[in-house]
Amino acid sequence: MSIRVIAIDGPAASGKSSTAAAVARRLGWAHLDSGALYRAVTLAALDNLRDPGSEMRDAWSPQRLVALAEDLPVRLVLVGDVFRPEVAGVDVEDVIRSPRVTARVSEIAAIPEVRHWVNVQQREAVGTHPQGVVVDGRDIGTVVFPDAPLKVFLTATADERARRRLAQRGDRIDPAELQRESAALGARDHADSTRRVAPLRSAADATLLDTTRLSVEEQVARVVALARERIPG
Ligand code: DC
Repeated sequence: MSIRVIAIDGPAASGKSSTAAAVARRLGWAHLDSGALYRAVTLAALDNLRDPGSEMRDAWSPQRLVALAEDLPVRLVLVGDVFRPEVAGVDVEDVIRSPRVTARVSEIAAIPEVRHWVNVQQREAVGTHPQGVVVDGRDIGTVVFPDAPLKVFLTATADERARRRLAQRGDRIDPAELQRESAALGARDHADSTRRVAPLRSAADATLLDTTRLSVEEQVARVVALARERIPG
């Protein structure tokens, strides 16, 4: 039997996580946000390792990061039908969204040893859920679960994604803020798409969904319809 995974990939603020969470609820599946694991490792590094300044270039070595993640530990815990990130037994779902973590996570996510560790956690987690898991990220359909029976790649223009990000944070949406946010998202997309390991890209067999003009409800309905078509209940 093929694995019961729906892979949802796409750039930052394309609506992956909210779509994945809603699709999972609709189908009675679990939701796993793989970005949360990269963020949790980043938080663990910021709180426990000396920051690599110019005189400490090797402080965040791949080996130290993976050992730290294993020892603390950084892990995913299934609460209800949601995999939540924990660091040393503490739920970090909120604190991993802070600007301090966001500013450094691309750096951590570019390290092959960290990616390997994160992928192992995801594959183990998926095996523990009886129904299936909706996993969102950047490389879920291309690298982590290449055999997923449904892969969706979400896109939206950078301006639309910036607008959604500001609205989500409750910030005022003036043109200067919009431009700043759009540039920040563009920089993160560039870093994620051009990195050597597992760059952000659509799998050849993914369904492309441009969400620029879709509501979250419409995005969710399209993915649920595809899931019902492709994956036997
Ligand atoms: O989706 P997000 O913003 O929470 O992701 C945080 C970072 O982790 C982002 O810079 C991209 C990276 N990431 C990744 O490289 N691969 C994934 N599967 C998920 C996230």
